[in-house]
Amino acid sequence: MRYHCIIVLSVIAIDLLASLAKPLSPPWDNMHVKHSWNAVPTNWVSLGRPPPGTTIDLYIALKPNREDALIDALYEVSEPGHQGTYRAHLTKEQVADLVAPRPETLELVNSWLEYHGISSSSVSMTHGGNTLKLKGVSVTQANTLLGASYQVYRHVEWGETIVRTVGYSLPRALHWHVLTVVPTTSFVSLRAQWQTPRNDSRGDTVGLVKSASGEPVTILSGRAKVDFATPSFLRWLYDTEAYRPNAMDKNALGVLGLKGDSPSPADLGAFMRKYRNAGDVIKYLTIVVLNDGVFDPTHPHEEANLDIQYAEAMAYPTPHTFYSIGRGPSGTDDWYITWLEYILDQRDIPQTISISYGYQEISTLREYAFYVCDMFAILGLRGVGVLASSGNHGIGRGTCVNKDGMVRFIPRFLPYRHAFSGPYVTVVGGTTDYQPEVAVTFSGGGFPDHFERPPYQRRAVPTFLEDLGSRYQGLYNDSGRGIPDVAAQSMNLPILFNNREQGESGISGATPIVGGIISLLNDQLISTARGPLGFLNPWLYGRGLATLDDITQGSNSGCGMDGFSAIAGWDPVTGLGTPNSRRMMGQLV
Ligand SMILES: *[C@@H]1O[C@H](CO)[C@@H](O)[C@H](O)[C@H]1NC(C)=O
Ligand SMILES: *[C@@H]1O[C@H](CO)[C@@H](O)[C@H](O)[C@H]1NC(C)=O
Repeated sequence: MRYHCIIVLSVIAIDLLASLAKPLSPPWDNMHVKHSWNAVPTNWVSLGRPPPGTTIDLYIALKPNREDALIDALYEVSEPGHQGTYRAHLTKEQVADLVAPRPETLELVNSWLEYHGISSSSVSMTHGGNTLKLKGVSVTQANTLLGASYQVYRHVEWGETIVRTVGYSLPRALHWHVLTVVPTTSFVSLRAQWQTPRNDSRGDTVGLVKSASGEPVTILSGRAKVDFATPSFLRWLYDTEAYRPNAMDKNALGVLGLKGDSPSPADLGAFMRKYRNAGDVIKYLTIVVLNDGVFDPTHPHEEANLDIQYAEAMAYPTPHTFYSIGRGPSGTDDWYITWLEYILDQRDIPQTISISYGYQEISTLREYAFYVCDMFAILGLRGVGVLASSGNHGIGRGTCVNKDGMVRFIPRFLPYRHAFSGPYVTVVGGTTDYQPEVAVTFSGGGFPDHFERPPYQRRAVPTFLEDLGSRYQGLYNDSGRGIPDVAAQSMNLPILFNNREQGESGISGATPIVGGIISLLNDQLISTARGPLGFLNPWLYGRGLATLDDITQGSNSGCGMDGFSAIAGWDPVTGLGTPNSRRMMGQLV
């Protein structure tokens, strides 16, 4: 059996770690720059060295033995055309085998660590088996190891502090074997990871469309405004009302919260009593706190409340897990890396995960983006569908003039984009109104530079670009992966926050709405003994296309311009369109 060897292989790997240097060690002092910025990234200033005693957990991402194996396997389980492998997702051990480094890679890295006196007891394998974690390395030692100069940096606008280095090196002999080291030169802003909900509080909430069982729905002719997009409106619009989940013992929905954000179970309970007539929601909620986070139910965060309330509004009574990732002790942490380490170590992972937080692409490295992206590919391979927000700033915030005085839409100037525009997650944009449903102007969309167009967009994106013609030429990357993939309502979503009702707007709301709907599809599959959907895009861009409602009106403004328009077919405003749950379920095989 192919996968039995994995376990043996990892045992060998650990032995190698323990068994130290070979006689002919390469010259570990022959250091070469792995990555360096010319200057401290824009908006960050150095506050000098971290206090003595500061330690860092270093993650060393290793080149896998079989380079294309992970992505090949991902498409085999995610493309409906693959007979026999479609939705036959892999276990934790099977994935570890696919991404395992070569034995000689481990041997080399290990003897380098030995040379620097790092004991094998502080080294472990993480992130599904492609990463070495060095726990609690002192900053002084990290500086020596990586030819680095770790300092505390403060974000000039937001005051957040992080510990990073402007450049780092590795011995020449390791360059081929090591993909990247984290945290080093990716200056990710903590503040920018929160997609600020737009606050349109208008007092008491009145759902425009009530469609609770049997009640007739009033459909106005012509475009109808939605005063408040209530759960009953959303369940009517996306056609989930008739479905009753019944795989509650196996199916689950995960919602990610960063910055230590956590929701209020009391607000969730009140929200669900009001909007879903459900009094027992708390028994379906689990909160997992990571990274020295503290769960304080009396100090909820609006973003966390919005995310969990709309996930539950759609998928109740599916069990929900909220992951609250704390700030960490010293500013050295990378939150996504922390969460991915945890989640990939789990044997059972929720089959659907909703993420309403995004990094800015501006000061993250391509190598880092690829590394993170591969871990999302691992999630897909294990049968997890990830939904991520496209951002709240249309084609770009502000003027989009770069330091050379040129205008460009690219994610580089979109502060709220997109470590997760990566091709292995499903990116969600925003709509409003109905009959017809139209794009919201703030719906993030475009073509990030880090990722080239994936195979499933081979037809959809060029069709849009042909229609666009020479408009905006040079302002965006016409070979990049287009985002978003799908969209949902994101204006005036009523939430309960500290027991008060208020309306929130933002793509942050659209994401758990789509997440909830996908979770219902997974429920239907799992309750009839079939595998979950996992990574959705190959299905959505192929057979799934007919299950979406195309959005053809509106545009996403930004950079002082009108932005891209929603047109027939895919567009970088609303993607392929909004989900119709009944049609989706009808098409599942
Ligand atoms: C939203 O509006 C409410 C009521 O006007 C206000 O109390 C709250 O501070 C606002 N929140 C944000 C994030 O602006
Ligand atoms: C445009 O995207 C491609 C594919 O990701 C990338 O190789 C290229 O460097 C990008 N162009 C710029 C100017 O960043």
